[in-house]
Amino acid sequence: MSSCFLIWPIPLKNLLKMHMKPIIKINEITKKFKNLTAVDNLTININEGENTAILGPNGAGKTTLVEMIEGIQSPNSGEISILNMNWKNNEKELRKIIGLSLQETRFIDKITVYETMLLFASFYGLKKEKAEEMVILSGLNDKKDSLTMNLSGGQKQKLSLGIALINDPKIIILDEPTTGLDPHARREIWYTLKEQKKKNATLLLTTHYMEEAEFLCQRIIIMYQGKIIADGKINDLLKYHGARELIEFSFYGKKEPQFLFDLPDVKDVNIDFEESKIRLYVNNISKILPIVLTAANKAKFKILDLQCRKMNLDDLFLSLTGKSLNE
Ligand SMILES: Nc1ncnc2c1ncn2[C@@H]1O[C@H](COP(=O)(O)OP(=O)(O)OP(=O)(O)O)[C@@H](O)[C@H]1O
Ligand SMILES: [Mg+2]
Repeated sequence: MSSCFLIWPIPLKNLLKMHMKPIIKINEITKKFKNLTAVDNLTININEGENTAILGPNGAGKTTLVEMIEGIQSPNSGEISILNMNWKNNEKELRKIIGLSLQETRFIDKITVYETMLLFASFYGLKKEKAEEMVILSGLNDKKDSLTMNLSGGQKQKLSLGIALINDPKIIILDEPTTGLDPHARREIWYTLKEQKKKNATLLLTTHYMEEAEFLCQRIIIMYQGKIIADGKINDLLKYHGARELIEFSFYGKKEPQFLFDLPDVKDVNIDFEESKIRLYVNNISKILPIVLTAANKAKFKILDLQCRKMNLDDLFLSLTGKSLNE
């Protein structure tokens, strides 16, 4: 009986991939604004049940991409299908299964939080109890009777998220749902979204926070200049791109730290040198660090602000593009 397992020819990882069903298919889409190509011939599938985060610096094309998926913007070329439907022929059905929050949302100023929720509940034929439930779920019960124009930026974002979730959507698309929120409010939103996972919703979000992507999503897509430059599970991405750990330090003066280039036995080290800051991408800190420190001492080179840590998505992005995700 157990030989069944032993001779099974497909690794479990691939088997799981085979079972992933694309819920959104994006095929060669391009969006241009005059001479600027915001999304550049992009092809990806978003899989059912696989929460996916799109990360990238300002202007990478994240909002343009998700707004095309949401049917708010149209591509110049290419196709998007969602559960084999498209915006041209199936707008009504798609509005029912997608919940979305935009990067910036405008509400009707002179109605209250509760009235806003009631309004959206009525769009979906839902009862007032659902509006009440969503006010509580959004963490806005104490602001229930406040006019939306009097909400703070963070409270508006919470309202926006509540609206996105009101009809228990199958697909939730959120453009920077927690930007500008305090850490406590951000975590509250994360836990609300984790709960949605239990309802078998698929989450697609854009974010500048790698912790958010790591906490909520199994798959990370990194966009840069309208293209995807990395796509996969976070650990696979970090592994695939070589180093797993970082040694960082700065030093006095502008003299090049030549000793680093003459280190013995450092074939697995990539060196990034910028003004008076050094980054060493390595696979074995405990082996490399003593070698670096000894060589620095010998060269009478004064190391400052030494830090050793695991590589993260921002480091990966920096190593791919020379820029920080949050620049
Ligand atoms: N309506 C528009 N007209 C002209 N250019 C636009 C328009 N919308 C977006 N762009 C440009 O397209 C590029 C991508 O913008 P987009 O909003 O998609 O970036 P983003 O990745 O969402 O950035 P951010 O992190 O700042 O939200 C930017 O250079 C932006 O200036
Ligand atoms: Mg954006």
